[in-house]
Amino acid sequence: MHLTILIDNRPASGFESEHGLCLLVETKTHKILVDTGLSGKAFDNAEKLGVNINDVDLLLLSHGHIDHTGGLRRFLEINQKAKIIASHLVSDTKYWSNRGGKFHSLSPDTELIRNNIDRFIFLNDNYLINNEIGVIIPKNAHNPKPQGNRYLFVSNGDKMIPYTASDELALSVVEDGRLVIISPCSHQGLLNIADNCCNAMNCSYIAAFVGGLHLLDDESDDVASIASQINHLYPQMHLYTSHCTGNNACAILQEGLNDKFHIFTTGEGINIGSFIH
Ligand SMILES: [Fe+2]
Ligand SMILES: [Fe+2]
Repeated sequence: MHLTILIDNRPASGFESEHGLCLLVETKTHKILVDTGLSGKAFDNAEKLGVNINDVDLLLLSHGHIDHTGGLRRFLEINQKAKIIASHLVSDTKYWSNRGGKFHSLSPDTELIRNNIDRFIFLNDNYLINNEIGVIIPKNAHNPKPQGNRYLFVSNGDKMIPYTASDELALSVVEDGRLVIISPCSHQGLLNIADNCCNAMNCSYIAAFVGGLHLLDDESDDVASIASQINHLYPQMHLYTSHCTGNNACAILQEGLNDKFHIFTTGEGINIGSFIH
């Protein structure tokens, strides 16, 4: 299984970067694009990398936030065939953030979604693409969710309601009895997402967890405890993160996970399996 990071927050020489995530997941059977970044610049990077977006079989939108759905228009211009999997909530939810003290919209282009409705598969429950690939809605949360969620809201009329991340989906791929989880923003919290994906895919051996963790700097998340829980529950798990994982959180995770911790960068190819012993 091979991943290619098409865009991410952290600058990488020779590539566009932005606050957003887009990555390509190539399994034995599918080419799945996960999210589209903020602006569509991910597809300029794809061209530089020789990645043909026409070959993508499926697009998964991990949740509605614009830093994951903003490149949808360009994706639809390039790729005429892939079905698009998203939570049923994404098509009519208005998303907001008040980080920085002022409300600003994080909503996707709902008109674009409605105009291309025949391309979409909307989920309100887990969805198995085949026996090895599942799209999981993490509904059970026994562990704390990231503190940074407190800046996030959805609106109902003029009422702001705290964002619960009920639109969040994670891609789970089992290859050779080992689970790989792709979770771009992890608003539900890494440990909750890992637990739900293991249960849904009936596999407790996580080879890798890949995605942003929404552990923002200057928040009071107990990151050291997350690292020690990972070591306890999934001792073999490699963590690949960037996007919304702050530098402080990265430093703590690095200390806790040592050589199982990696910060991914735009343009990077990750061969899952090459590090498994
Ligand atoms: Fe998000
Ligand atoms: Fe995000």
